[in-house]
Amino acid sequence: MMACVRTQVGIVGAGPAGLLLAHLLHREGVDAVVLEARSREYVEMRVRAGVLEQTSVELLREAGVADRLDREGLVHEGISLRFDATDHRIAFTELTGRSITVYGQQEVVKDLIAERIAAGAPIEFEVADVAVHDLTGDAPRITYTDATGRGQELTCDVIAGCDGFHGVTRDAIPAGALTVYEHVYPFAWLGILAEAPPSHEELIYAYHERGFALHSMRSPRITRLYLQVAPDESIERWPDERIWEELHRRLAADGFSLTEGPVLEKVITGMRSFVVEPMRHGRLFLAGDAAHIVPPTGAKGMNLALADVRRLAGAVTDFLRHGRVDGLDAYSDACLRRVWRAEHFSWWMTSMLHRAEGDDAFQRRLQLSQLRYTATSPAAATSLAENYVGLPFDAT
Ligand code: FAD
Ligand code: PHB
Repeated sequence: MMACVRTQVGIVGAGPAGLLLAHLLHREGVDAVVLEARSREYVEMRVRAGVLEQTSVELLREAGVADRLDREGLVHEGISLRFDATDHRIAFTELTGRSITVYGQQEVVKDLIAERIAAGAPIEFEVADVAVHDLTGDAPRITYTDATGRGQELTCDVIAGCDGFHGVTRDAIPAGALTVYEHVYPFAWLGILAEAPPSHEELIYAYHERGFALHSMRSPRITRLYLQVAPDESIERWPDERIWEELHRRLAADGFSLTEGPVLEKVITGMRSFVVEPMRHGRLFLAGDAAHIVPPTGAKGMNLALADVRRLAGAVTDFLRHGRVDGLDAYSDACLRRVWRAEHFSWWMTSMLHRAEGDDAFQRRLQLSQLRYTATSPAAATSLAENYVGLPFDAT
């Protein structure tokens, strides 16, 4: 027998998008149920993004979930572009008055889950067979199997598809109703987490003839490092010694030495740009990676997910409380303006910093010219800086 439950908002996925949406709705007195395919431990351990725009920090603070972020987050006032074995600092705060905060995505996820559980609000982990139905009616439904193996049905006013790029909600929309824009890059990133103090106070984006490298961090004891690798590269071909050797080469600069430490995690991630339009079908609203993907070079993925649900929470609340549909009707277009800005910025950073197979000397000269211009022209540096720290929500 299937158990039937009613809620106002059914949220598929407990990543940053689904969890912040649930929290913002809870603060407005709107009921929601969050359904997550993985276990709580798994989503809290999953290492992904690490940079919060100032706009995201402010959003989390306004939502009352930034206590630990404010205590443990590392505020950075700039980054380095490293090329010709020299650092060229982009001074965010000097150029824009704003900064970024390094705080792991899984820490944001932990904080939001703890908040939801403390509030006694519904969140179900390890659900299976999630399917969405009746999207164009006024009572859309979600069916799923709960963690005990029991079939469940959730009837909602609105469904939020926050289930990431590989989720099921986007695919439930008839193909003819969506337009897909996609670009796949001819490289991937190999990322490691190392138990070693960061080797530099700030992030370093390194352009090197052997390929891109990135020095980032998670805490004063944990370094996060990335290497550009071939798109079909297998992790078995990268024992730790080879990774460190390559990082030393690509990050080499006068007066810099890279501190090594035990490798706690290593993973290869493909790079793509992807957008679906519109981000809505009837009463289903897509948010975050379910609707758009950026290559990680601009550090925008998690930030876009948070910006989407900020808008969605307001629109859904207006609809459920006052019957107003204007916010819901404007949702997709308004999000897509910010999404396309981030798509361009992420593609631009990626194109400037990576070496693609088959690139010729002409392209390398163009990349170096763009890097030098960005590092020396206050106008060009400010353009990078204002995109990186996050444009105000309604600026685009
Ligand atoms: P997600 O975080 O993907 O959350 C979706 C959730 O839905 C997941 O918990 C998933 O388990 C769940 N789910 C999926 N299918 C179902 C289903 N059928 N039923 C129920 N639940 C389901 N961005 C950066 O800026 N920097 C980075 O370094 C970076 N590294 C990344 C590395 C990887 C491997 C990946 C995949 C992404 C990375 N990103 C990075 C992007 C960033 O992490 C995402 O943009 C961000 O996670 C988006 O949040 P979200 O909530 O939309 O989606
Ligand atoms: C990270 O710390 O994981 C990170 C930082 C900046 C990026 C991508 C990833 O552009």
